[in-house]
Amino acid sequence: MINILITGGAGFIGSHVVRQFVIKYPDYRIFNLDVLTYAGNLENLKDIEDALNYTFIKGDITDEKFVNALFKEHKFDGVIHLAAESHVDRSIKDPLAFAKTNILGTMVLLNAFKNLWQENWIGKRFYHVSTDEVYGSLGKAGLFTETTAYDPNSPYSASKASSDHFVRAYGETYGMPYVISNCSNNYGPNHFPEKLIPLFINNIINNKALPVYGDGLFTRDWLYVKDHAIAIDLAFHEGKDSETYNIGGFNEWTNIDLVKLLCGLMDAKLQRPAGTSEKLITYVKDRPGHDLRYAIDASKINKELGWSPSVTFEEGLEKTIDWYLNNKTWLVNVTSGNYQEYYKSQYN
Ligand code: NAD
Ligand code: DAU
Repeated sequence: MINILITGGAGFIGSHVVRQFVIKYPDYRIFNLDVLTYAGNLENLKDIEDALNYTFIKGDITDEKFVNALFKEHKFDGVIHLAAESHVDRSIKDPLAFAKTNILGTMVLLNAFKNLWQENWIGKRFYHVSTDEVYGSLGKAGLFTETTAYDPNSPYSASKASSDHFVRAYGETYGMPYVISNCSNNYGPNHFPEKLIPLFINNIINNKALPVYGDGLFTRDWLYVKDHAIAIDLAFHEGKDSETYNIGGFNEWTNIDLVKLLCGLMDAKLQRPAGTSEKLITYVKDRPGHDLRYAIDASKINKELGWSPSVTFEEGLEKTIDWYLNNKTWLVNVTSGNYQEYYKSQYN
C-alpha cells in the first residue's frame, strides 16, 4: 500500500485530482486534507466518498502540530499539494490570508515531509501544484517556458511564487525529491463562481450583469480541469525529480471574446433569442495590477511525458455549461450566505 496525501482535495482542481487517483489507483490509500474554506465543498466528491481507498481529513495545513502528527500517523509516501487561497481579487483585499495559507502552509507540509523521510528519501515525492501567474505578465507576443524568470504582480501570485521557491529550497538543501507544475487557467465542473467562467455562467442563468474588467482585452490560456488532473497524475508518476513542468491549453482567448462565445452558447442552451446574454455585458473598473496576458509553452511535458489536452475548448465549454445547468442545486448552495456579501463588496 502506498499512502498519498492530497491537500485541498475538496476544492475545484483538487476534487478532480482526488477522483483521478481514487479511481485509477485502487492500491493507493488516498487521504484528502482540507480545512473546507468557502471554496472547499465535500459535495464535489459525493460520487467517490465511500471508496475503500479514500479518507477525508478536515484540518488546516498551517497548523504545525496537527500536520506533524498526521504525517507521523500515516507516513505519507507522496504529497500532492493543492490547498491554497486561489482567487486574485480576494488576495488584493486580504493579502495576509494568502501569505499564511500559501507560504506558511506549504512550509509546514514541507517540514513535516522532511522530518519524516530525510534519512531515506527513496520512493518519496512532494508534488507542488502551482500557477503560471508566478511568471508575471506577457506582452502581446511570447510564451512562458520553465525558464522564464519569476515576476509575480499580485499578492496571490507572489505567495505562490514564494511557495515554489521554498519547495525548490527543500530540494536543494535537504535533498527532498520534488516536482513542481505551473498551470494556466483551468475551467470545468465544480469551479467556484467567483472566477470568470462560472461567475458569468451563473449570472447569465440569473439574468445578472456580466462585469468585464477594464477593456476586456486581457488574455488567458484555458485548460479543461480534467486534463490538468491527468497531467498531474503523469508528472507525479513519471516526471523527473527537481523538475518543473508547464501545463497549458494552447488555447488563448481575450476575456471579451471568451465572454461573447459563452453568451452565444448559453443563449442556445437556455433557448433564449441569440444576443440576449451579450446585452448583460457591463464594463467595470479594472482589477488593480491586472496582468495583461498569460500563455504557456507546454512543449516540455508534451515531449517528455507525452501529455497534451484531450478536450477542445468548444467541447470543454459545452461540458462545463451542461454541468452547471444540471447541477443548479450545487450552484444555489455555494452562492447563498457569505457569497452574497463577497459579491456586494467586489462588484457594487
Ligand atoms: P480552490 O480555491 O477551488 O480550492 C482550494 C482548496 O484548498 C479548498 O478546498 C480549500 O478549502 C482548501 N484550503 C484552503 N486553505 C486551506 C488550509 N489552510 N488548509 C487546508 N485546506 C485549505 O482552488 P483551485 O482553483 O482548485 O486551485 C488549487 C491549486 O491549484 C491552488 O494551489 C492554485 O494555486 C493552483 N492553480 C489553480 C489554477 C486555476 O485556474 N484555478 C491554475 C493553476 C494553478
Ligand atoms: O493562470 C492561472 C490562474 O488562473 C490561477 O492560478 C488562479 O488561481 C485562478 O483564479 C486564475 O486567475 P485569473 O485571475 O486569471 O482568473 P479569473 O477567473 O479571476 O479571471 C480571469 C480573467 O477575467 C482575468 O483577466 C480577470 C477577468 N475577470 C474576472 C472576473 C472574476 C473579469 O473581467 N471580470 C470578473 O468578474
